Amino acid sequence: MRIAAVVGARPNFVKIAPILAALRDRSEARTTLIHTGQHYDVRMSEAFFANLEIPTPDVNLDVRSGTAAAQIAGVMERLEPVLAESRPDVVVVVGDVNSTIAAALTAVKVGVPVAHVEAGLRSFDRSMPEEINRVLTDAISDLLFTTEPAAQGNLAREGIPAQRVHFVGNVMIDTLFRYRERAEQSPILATLGVQPGAYAALTLHRPSNVDSAEALGRMVSAVARIQAEIPVVFPVHPRTRQRLAGMDGSLPALPGLRLIDPLPYLDFVCLMAHARCVLTDSGGIQEETTALGIPCLTLRTSTERPITVARGTNRVVGVEPEAIFSAWRQIAEGRWPAGELPELWDGKAAERIVRILLGAAR
Ligand code: UD1
Repeated sequence: MRIAAVVGARPNFVKIAPILAALRDRSEARTTLIHTGQHYDVRMSEAFFANLEIPTPDVNLDVRSGTAAAQIAGVMERLEPVLAESRPDVVVVVGDVNSTIAAALTAVKVGVPVAHVEAGLRSFDRSMPEEINRVLTDAISDLLFTTEPAAQGNLAREGIPAQRVHFVGNVMIDTLFRYRERAEQSPILATLGVQPGAYAALTLHRPSNVDSAEALGRMVSAVARIQAEIPVVFPVHPRTRQRLAGMDGSLPALPGLRLIDPLPYLDFVCLMAHARCVLTDSGGIQEETTALGIPCLTLRTSTERPITVARGTNRVVGVEPEAIFSAWRQIAEGRWPAGELPELWDGKAAERIVRILLGAAR
C-alpha cells in the first residue's frame, strides 16, 4: 500500500511522528512524506523533525506564509501534480490547519481517498479558521480517526456514515508518552533559571487573541496580574511576535514575564511538565496538559476538545482579565482537579490507525 502523508504546520509534525514510526515497522506499506512548507522557520519546523525523529520530507512544496486563501491555493497547485503522478492509495492528513484542508481537497480532486486523523472536533465557532478546516476536511474524508467520544457525535450529526469513523485515541499523546522521559533531560528549566512548580507557561497565537490590539491588550492585562505573583515563561509564536512588535511602546514593563523564542518539542514538554500551570489558546496543549496532569487555563470562549474539561485538567476561562486572574488564584490556592486520562489516550493510537489503514486496502 502506498501512503502519502501531508504535513504543514507545527502541530502536524507532532501528530504524524507516531504514525510514520508505526508505518516503518510494516513491510506492506510504502510511505511518502510531503511537507507543504506552511511552517518554514527552523524553530517551527526543522527543530520538530529533529526532536521527533521524523525523516526528511520526500517532497517540500515550500508554500510559506500568505493569506489563508493564498496558502491553501498554493498547496493545492503544487500538490496536485505530485499526487497525480505518484497516485498513492491514500493521502493521510492530520489536524486542522490550512495545509490539512488544502491537501485533503487536492487528493479528492485527483481521485485519491483521504484519511483524516483527529476528525470530528468542533468548537462550533465558525469565526475560527481551524473550525472551517475541520468541517470541510471531515466532509470529504473517506476514513476518519477520532480522539474523543464527542467527535463521534459531531460527525454523526453531520451525516458522516458511521462505518467511515474510527475512535482510535490521540496520536499527539502517543508522541508525548514516547518522548516524555527524554524531555526530562532538557536543560530548559536551568537555562531559564526557573524552579519546578514555581512558574507558569504561556502560549498565544490565535488570530482572535493576537490580531487586534484590543484583544492582545486584554491578554497582556491578564498576564500582567499573574506575573506579579509567579514568573510567566512565554515562548512567542512568530505571528504573536509580529503583533507584539506592532504594539511596542504601549506595552507595560512586566518584570515577571519572560519572552523567549518558540521552543523545540522536548524543551517545551519539559517546560509544561514542571509548570505550576499553563495558560494557552492552543488546541493541542489543552490535551497535552490533561495527559500530564498539569492545570490548564484555556484563554478562549470555546474548546473543540471537551474531554479535556470533562475529564482532564483544562478549564475554558474566556478572554476577560478578571476571569483569567481568578482562575489562576484557584490554582494558586490548590483548588484544581487532578483530572484523569481520557479513554484510549494510551500511546497506541497510531498503531490502531495503521492497522485500520492497511486493513482498508485489503
Ligand atoms: C497555524 C495554524 C494553527 C496552528 C498553528 C501552530 C492555520 C489556519 N492555523 O497558525 O491552527 O495552531 O499554525 O503554530 O493553519 N510565520 C513565520 N514562520 C513560520 C510560520 C509562520 O514567521 O515558520 C509567521 C508568518 O508571518 C505567518 C504567521 O506567522 O504569516 C502565521 O502563520 P500561519 O501558518 O499563517 O498561521 P499560524 O498562526 O502559525
